Amino acid sequence: MNSLTIICLLMVALVPACAAAQEIPPFPPPPADISSTATVVTADEPGEWLNITGRVYKADGKTPYAGMVLYLYQTDASGVYNKTDNSWQRPRLHAWVKTGKDGHYTINTIKPGAYPGRRDPAHIHVIVQLPGEHPKWIDDFLFERDPYLSERDVKSAASKGTFSHIMKTQSDNKGVLHAVRNIILQ
Ligand SMILES: [Fe+2]
Repeated sequence: MNSLTIICLLMVALVPACAAAQEIPPFPPPPADISSTATVVTADEPGEWLNITGRVYKADGKTPYAGMVLYLYQTDASGVYNKTDNSWQRPRLHAWVKTGKDGHYTINTIKPGAYPGRRDPAHIHVIVQLPGEHPKWIDDFLFERDPYLSERDVKSAASKGTFSHIMKTQSDNKGVLHAVRNIILQ
């Protein structure tokens, strides 16, 4: 076992809930009937309801990326991936969504909670697999005004303009939060 392997194993052991130390994210085979609207939770899920809409674009930032499958997973409102072992590899809340002809997608879920006892911002992980490539994460979906946002995230998001991965949320008269996240895949 070389030193790099030992360091990676230590990182996984020290950060069990986080996927940062993993090289290749899991990308479970999508079901056959994915639509452009994903419903991640059932009606009895505790938490703030969250509606995310957006469009996915090709590398030029202008051409809609139709038919792209996104796999997303997140913690529940209490900040855990599941109540058995809290492994990020077995997230209870997960779904697939496939962009429509105009690259549009919608996700209906609840706002994730931050990891308990940690200082990581609440987030939703999203994985894509471009043709001929390995699955990869895109920038986590984050939330404006989260007290744990890092300066790096804020600067990075600001540089992306309308493709910011830090989402503004607005509550409607039913208390549902609405957010927009547009994505460039390159
Ligand atoms: Fe996470």
